[in-house]
Amino acid sequence: SVSSAFDFAPNLFPLSSTAHGYTALGAPSTAALDPTNALNGGQLEKNKTLTTLNGLSLVVGLIIGSGIFSSPSQVNRNAGSPGASLIVWVVAGVLAWTGAASYAELGGAIPLNGGAQVYLSKIYGEWAGFLFTWCAVCVLKPGSAAIIAIIFGEYVVRAVIGAEAMAASHWIEKGVAFAGLVIVTILNCISTKLGTTSADIFMFMKFIALLGVAIIGIVVAATGLSYKGKASDDWKTQGWFEGTSTSISNWAVALYAGLWAFDGWDNVNYVTAEFKNPARDLPRVLHTSLPLVIVSYLLANVAYFLVLPTSVIESSNTVAVAFGSQVFGPIGSLVLALFVSGSCFGALNATTFTSGRLVYAAGKEGYLPSFFGNIGFGKSHRAIRLHTLNANLSSKSAFKRKMVDWFADPDAGFFFTPISAMGLNAALTGVYILIGSFDTLVTFYGVAGYVFYFLAVLGLIILRVKEPELERPYRTWITTPIIFCCVSLFLLSRAVFAEPLQSLAVLGFMAAGLIIWFGWVGRRKNAKRERFGRVGDGGEKEGGWKFWRRWRS
Ligand code: ARG
Repeated sequence: SVSSAFDFAPNLFPLSSTAHGYTALGAPSTAALDPTNALNGGQLEKNKTLTTLNGLSLVVGLIIGSGIFSSPSQVNRNAGSPGASLIVWVVAGVLAWTGAASYAELGGAIPLNGGAQVYLSKIYGEWAGFLFTWCAVCVLKPGSAAIIAIIFGEYVVRAVIGAEAMAASHWIEKGVAFAGLVIVTILNCISTKLGTTSADIFMFMKFIALLGVAIIGIVVAATGLSYKGKASDDWKTQGWFEGTSTSISNWAVALYAGLWAFDGWDNVNYVTAEFKNPARDLPRVLHTSLPLVIVSYLLANVAYFLVLPTSVIESSNTVAVAFGSQVFGPIGSLVLALFVSGSCFGALNATTFTSGRLVYAAGKEGYLPSFFGNIGFGKSHRAIRLHTLNANLSSKSAFKRKMVDWFADPDAGFFFTPISAMGLNAALTGVYILIGSFDTLVTFYGVAGYVFYFLAVLGLIILRVKEPELERPYRTWITTPIIFCCVSLFLLSRAVFAEPLQSLAVLGFMAAGLIIWFGWVGRRKNAKRERFGRVGDGGEKEGGWKFWRRWRS
């Protein structure tokens, strides 16, 4: 019952058109943000397909990326000693875990797709949801992609050209990072399938690399054997806490680096509504995956310390290569470099995929110029024309119809992707690669990210006070969000002293977002709403407390 080509158009985008309005990986769209929308309730039921296992692989696959192979140097340099670094890793892991537990409660209480965007909109008002989306588009998504691309570049250059070239110029690595970004973006523009099928292979690589490091490290430490003679015995001669930093700002910077490696724990919350049983699965997934990741990261770090001299760990972002070359010689370093660059490439691929959807949804929602909500090369994309053609083909041969269907099929066809959205994301990512380095970007990303994590978890506490009767299938101990809020507040306040430039940049982006919302986008949306009203609602402004309470009741 397709009435016109343009009615059909949204469905050209297979992932955004899951009828509840969210993509498989969580980009939000209007329908799902609007609880009064007739589509939301009924269609949500249909898409409840995710199981606990899916959730586990989603979280673990997103958390393990570049960080555990690159952050250790920054953690060590700033914490000052191996013992202090391990403490930072534990604190970062536990902080991520308390955040995840809080998000599990939020996800149960507000069982919609969209993660922080939905929680912030419901708790504080739509402006907060917009601010999150704006910062995600401008900072979080391209910033994280740039970090991963830079690590990808460093590992590839290490593997192919060697350390001398790296010392000579950083431009070679940045060049490779750009190349990786361009390849991944083109792949994702060409086809959705190309973008998603490779994900599983890369996930496998990450596990092998991480497990390999942990096991090898322990074996080497136990036997004392390695390619380059004896493994480092720094850990025997040097005290584990010798040189521990006394500067609180340094500890904060070390924590940001550790948090980068644990980041991604909020990702199942983007697809809450798609779980068969979110109330049960969400806490299960988070309480299994985080301890798992924490333990494996600690093992990997202990392995680094047992095998490598501290000076080596501190001096490079490519610890895994140093590790491989120490234990197995040149071949070992090549193999590890390949595995880690594969892992980064996979992560870059996944983040490009989701960013495209996020920017696309923001374009559809009216948060960005509608141009970014286009599929393919524009609104008059051939798919729409083909579909019209197909509708008129009803009398033609089955074969012809099949052919046209194939071309117009979003899964099989090419360029049925949010190209302009991915272009914007790639351009911003390129800028960050150009001006940033791993160290600066990690803090920048952490500051921006933790502003929103903090606001969302604070929202949980606000909800407990204001809506004590609200149904919460999962309740975390109240200490959990309190700990999370205190530590992230400490982190945010220290950032101002530790990295004033990055913090200022984040503040600038947020101020710009607020000006855009209150001066323009928000006004326009509310004006529209007052004029046209919405289904099941008298045309009142959306967001804020009253709206949300009405919707819950
Ligand atoms: N933890 C990941 C890594 O070590 C980075 C996650 C990036 N953030 C995200 N939401 N995907 O590379």
